[in-house]
Amino acid sequence: MAIERTLAIIKPDAVEGGLAGDILSRIHAAKFQIVAIKSLRLTKTEAEGFYAVHRERPFFGDLTNFMSSGKVLVMVLEAPGAISKWRDTMGATDPAKAAPGTIRRDFGTSIQNNCTHGSDAPATAAFEIGYFFAGAELV
Ligand code: CMP
Repeated sequence: MAIERTLAIIKPDAVEGGLAGDILSRIHAAKFQIVAIKSLRLTKTEAEGFYAVHRERPFFGDLTNFMSSGKVLVMVLEAPGAISKWRDTMGATDPAKAAPGTIRRDFGTSIQNNCTHGSDAPATAAFEIGYFFAGAELV
C-alpha cells in the first residue's frame, strides 16, 4: 500500500477535556508517523475557510463556532494508506454510530463534538495539509 499523508485535528472538545494525550497514544499505537504538529486557535474566518466545502450545510455556523472556540492540535500523519487508516482509527462521524474501540466512540460526545477530524480523500488531504503547514515544515 502506498505511503500517504493525511491531516488530523484534535478538536477543541478533546483538548479542553484533557484527551489529547490519550488520542496521541492511539495515533502511536496505530503506527502513524507524526510528520508535523502544532497547537493553535482558529479564528472563525479560518474555521470557515477550512470547512468551506460544508458552507451550505445547516450545521456550518455551529461547526465553525465550535472549531474556533478553543485550542486545537493540527498534525500531518503518515502511514501506508494513511487517509483511510486514520478514518478507520477515528470511527464514524457520529460517535453513537462509531465502532467499539475507535477514538470517536470512546471520546466523542456528539456528531459535532466528535473530538477528531481527518481528511476524506487525497485531494482533500492536499488542501487541508497546505491550509496549516508550509513545505519546509513537512520535510
Ligand atoms: P468532521 O469530520 O470534522 O467533518 C465535518 C464536521 O461537521 C464533522 O466532523 C462534525 O464535527 C460536524 N458535523 C456536525 N453535524 C454534522 C452532520 N449532521 N453530519 C456531518 N458532520 C456534522
